[in-house]
Amino acid sequence: MPSVRSVILAAASAGVAMAETIIVKVGQEGTTFDPQMVTAAAGDIVEFQFWPQNHSVVAGDMDKGCTPLADDGFFSGFMPVDEGKGETAFQVEINGTAPWVFYCSQAKHCQNGMYGMINGNDTALEAYMSLATDASANESPDSTDAFGGSVVTASETDSSDNSTDTEEGGAGVVAASMGMSFAAFAAAVLLS
Ligand SMILES: *[C@@H]1O[C@H](CO)[C@@H](O)[C@H](O)[C@H]1NC(C)=O
Ligand SMILES: *[C@@H]1O[C@H](CO)[C@@H](O)[C@H](O)[C@H]1NC(C)=O
Ligand SMILES: *[C@@H]1O[C@H](CO)[C@@H](O)[C@H](O)[C@H]1NC(C)=O
Ligand SMILES: *[C@@H]1O[C@H](CO)[C@@H](O)[C@H](O)[C@H]1NC(C)=O
Repeated sequence: MPSVRSVILAAASAGVAMAETIIVKVGQEGTTFDPQMVTAAAGDIVEFQFWPQNHSVVAGDMDKGCTPLADDGFFSGFMPVDEGKGETAFQVEINGTAPWVFYCSQAKHCQNGMYGMINGNDTALEAYMSLATDASANESPDSTDAFGGSVVTASETDSSDNSTDTEEGGAGVVAASMGMSFAAFAAAVLLS
């Protein structure tokens, strides 16, 4: 039987490596994703939060501007918002270090620069920029429903310490905050 102490230590070290939730603001400053470049580790969650008027996020084909990935990928569906930050967000769980490009499939938003990357780099983003600028169409996936992620209640956007302990997120966020509180609990025990 492992001691209570070693179990707590194991939970604490797991807690340290626990998933982060990275927020990307969609359309807050016009046809933009902010940040445009996201670095995410396996297990992290990228949460897209939506501003007016009616944006989407689609996992794109790196070699074809404004075109969805043929297989798998993700799509938030369209997220119409009247004013301010929409109540509904879209979360994608990142499973590895593979690069993703994503774009908004509304009107010509993609052609107008509304795209970004997860685990990409500046060279790949520049290459995508010329593909997007020249794309004749801005395609949505065939499905009108979201896939490849979860539609959730949007988390708090601004927190001074960039922490991820929101109560309102999806299952992944809840798991992350449980991990965090385990670590905090273990630290409290060790310090007492
Ligand atoms: C949002 O945009 C989509 C795609 O253009 C459209 O089908 C949908 O009707 C729009 N929703 C609203 C509420 O404007
Ligand atoms: C940038 O990303 C592209 C596409 O994933 C990749 O092929 C290339 O090796 C990367 N370049 C650097 C310098 O990491
Ligand atoms: C990561 O894996 C989960 C579980 O298999 C899957 O639902 C999700 O779509 C994957 N995320 C991406 C970005 O492929
Ligand atoms: C929070 O994130 C912002 C932008 O990524 C960064 O500039 C700031 O230093 C971070 N704050 C803390 C306390 O880590």
